[in-house]
Amino acid sequence: MIGDKKVLYSAMQATGGLHIGNYFGALHNWVNLSDEYECFFAVADLHALTIRREPAELRKSARDVLMMYMAAGLDPEKNCLYYQSSVPAHAELAWIMGCFTYLGELNRMTQFKDKSAKHADNINAGLLTYPVLMACDILLYQADAVPVGDDQRQHLELTRDIAERFNGIYGDVFTIPEAYIGKTGARIMSLADPSKKMSKSDENQNSVVYVLDDKDTIIRKFKRAITDSDTSIVYREDKPGIMNLMDIYSVASGKSIEEIEREFDQKGYGEFKLAVGETVADVLAPIRERFEQLSKDKAYVDSIIKNNGEKAAYFAEKTLRKVQKKIGLPERIR
Ligand code: TYM
Repeated sequence: MIGDKKVLYSAMQATGGLHIGNYFGALHNWVNLSDEYECFFAVADLHALTIRREPAELRKSARDVLMMYMAAGLDPEKNCLYYQSSVPAHAELAWIMGCFTYLGELNRMTQFKDKSAKHADNINAGLLTYPVLMACDILLYQADAVPVGDDQRQHLELTRDIAERFNGIYGDVFTIPEAYIGKTGARIMSLADPSKKMSKSDENQNSVVYVLDDKDTIIRKFKRAITDSDTSIVYREDKPGIMNLMDIYSVASGKSIEEIEREFDQKGYGEFKLAVGETVADVLAPIRERFEQLSKDKAYVDSIIKNNGEKAAYFAEKTLRKVQKKIGLPERIR
């Protein structure tokens, strides 16, 4: 708790542009929950290092993600929007908590297995210990709730396990966080292959809709989305492409799946895909506009990065000191 509010924490990696999976699976929920909680939203730039990056590109990605948070509607005066690397406590706690995490647990993580397969030439230690750093992000702020997409569920379970293990030895040091996973939009799939989740690293860029894509591009990508040889717009397991489009349409329009089935009863895929594309484009247009305005206001964005970095560090340091004391490390000399 901070004051009388529960704490909410989440983050996104600073890699490339955000796509509609990031937006509808996470960011969109953050905005809806942000009044109710004391919120910390990080740009996970340390996590982004597990893949080799050009320095200029990493710098730009991190800044773009932070501006995207603001453009999506998170007020940086009320929500702490900051760079993970601005707060050294993240990396410090990650070392300590790494000593409370078993290799077997890390080896079991499906994201580790997937990423190792994708980057077989660079299976670095960071790829394996990634969930420990993520756990520390959350635990440093004593977060109660963590709104994420479905693919982060396993990492959240690991966070709880490590925190409970630590608390079991040293007393109640960490709040045990709960994952908050939205009912729709938690798993947006690729438009080219609905058996795979939508991902920035997909070779087929037509399968990914970015928040900053323009209206024509968005509509074109939806028109090309893979469906099936049937024609009916119904939510059924054997129609994964249509299910995915219905999920996207539902979260973008606020309509339920039943309403959508009624709306498109007797209508064809062409008409449905166009409606999905237009609705998504309309939701994203104001975000793109605000993003462009913010891109021009360098001094303002710099001041947010500085002030919020300091605010985050204040809370994170409190937890880190408590942990250091509990485990027997000396008082900090500064
Ligand atoms: P990242 O950067 O891969 O994704 C950011 C958020 O977007 C969600 N997401 C999706 N949701 C629905 N459908 C999709 N296709 C889709 N793709 C991504 C993710 O679930 C996530 O919520 N390790 C994290 C970043 C992180 C973090 C944290 C999250 C670092 N520290 C602490 C929470 C708390 C990651 O790589 O997310």
